[in-house]
Amino acid sequence: MSDTHDTIVDVIIAEHARLRSGFDNLDALPDDDRQGRKNLWKDLKKDLLAHHDAEEDTLFAALVQTTADARHESLHAVSEHGEHKKILEQMEDLSFDHDEWQAKLAELRHDVIHHLDEEEEDVLPIARDVLTKEKSRALAKAYSAAKDG
Ligand SMILES: [Fe+2]
Ligand SMILES: [Fe+2]
Repeated sequence: MSDTHDTIVDVIIAEHARLRSGFDNLDALPDDDRQGRKNLWKDLKKDLLAHHDAEEDTLFAALVQTTADARHESLHAVSEHGEHKKILEQMEDLSFDHDEWQAKLAELRHDVIHHLDEEEEDVLPIARDVLTKEKSRALAKAYSAAKDG
């Protein structure tokens, strides 16, 4: 997934692009393709949760140990991960075909896209500043191992 020169910033940007297309692909499938939508949703949900967990274990675990600003932004991002998980739990309790489920999906999509934008605007520039190239490459490897493992 990542080559040895990639930094954690490169990897996160690529992962965010994948998550955004996941939501777009799900949106693009016709409503009557129930099985297709179900399969895409299953993959997207897994991908989103794995991204959040791997990001917490690598990028944010490193950033909280640097500057006050980095710590503040990291804690904010991690609390948003918790909000996404809450919406996902609410979706578990609803039927996939229910209108309310669709409304929850729209809410999740809105919140996640906003979260990804915010990380790219507020967190990644800090990561570029406070992490050495060496550390950033080591975190990229750790991220891939966490996510694939
Ligand atoms: Fe995040
Ligand atoms: Fe992220």
